[in-house]
Amino acid sequence: MNETRAQPDRIIELRGVSKRFGSQVVLNRVDLAVQRGSVTVIIGRSGTGKSVLLKHIVGLLRPDEGEVHYEGRRVDQFSERDFKAVRREVSFVFQLNALFDSMSVAENVAFPMQELWSGRRSRREIAELADQALEMVGMEGSQSKRPADLSGGEKKRVALARAIALDPPPKVILYDEPTAGLDPQRADVINKLIRKLQHEYHVTSVVVTHDMKSAREVGDRVLMLHDARFLADGTPEEVLVSKVDQVRRFVQGLAEPEDLASLTEE
Ligand SMILES: Nc1ncnc2c1ncn2[C@@H]1O[C@H](COP(=O)(O)OP(=O)(O)OP(=O)(O)O)[C@@H](O)[C@H]1O
Ligand SMILES: [Mg+2]
Repeated sequence: MNETRAQPDRIIELRGVSKRFGSQVVLNRVDLAVQRGSVTVIIGRSGTGKSVLLKHIVGLLRPDEGEVHYEGRRVDQFSERDFKAVRREVSFVFQLNALFDSMSVAENVAFPMQELWSGRRSRREIAELADQALEMVGMEGSQSKRPADLSGGEKKRVALARAIALDPPPKVILYDEPTAGLDPQRADVINKLIRKLQHEYHVTSVVVTHDMKSAREVGDRVLMLHDARFLADGTPEEVLVSKVDQVRRFVQGLAEPEDLASLTEE
């Protein structure tokens, strides 16, 4: 996108965004402002709308009401073609990885770069960038494997490599559960990678996670989505000591009383 306008501090903004599927209200007038260069973490129970929220930022879903802004422009009414320009700057690491089964690992990681730079950078240069990204996530040596032959955590790491492989890195990376299915040490590498991209390349990140350790380590700010709204919003330290019951139980990993109803004796 052209850079002639002054860059706003808020690189992404959701204003009063509502989204329903049939009678189910998933987002109810949600406001969110993401500061340029920050790591914003979104936590919340399964099925609360975290992935739905991320998809609004890149136009994979459109709001029923409200506005989505990117780089000071209202984008929610963009055409599919205009959204493509946004998606060149905003990488999305999908929860289910979305790797192409028919391609090798190396081809998967190279794919967005080929799309973006078709003809302007050599195959060799792209292959080298793909190799570097695979090395960053500890997947060097798997270039010729197929996604079907990888473990769950390995697929996740290849999907991460694909999102970060661009040179320079994307302006924004949206991570949907980047550490799910990874062992604690691999998760630590990914957390450090998110921070490194922030510190060295000023990448803005939005990270959806259930992993409170990861939220604490990477988040400048943590928000908890609950009942279609943000219930908590603060630094990781503030959210961890929240007095709000649902937030406290979530961060401590304790069930909600109604979840236990079916387990209690008559
Ligand atoms: N395209 C769709 N059509 C209908 N319902 C949808 C659609 N996408 C999401 N939903 C519903 O919206 C709700 C929120 O989904 P979402 O995927 O955002 O949850 P989530 O917070 O990411 O959960 P998880 O932590 O399990 O990934 C769910 O009840 C889901 O079934
Ligand atoms: Mg999800």
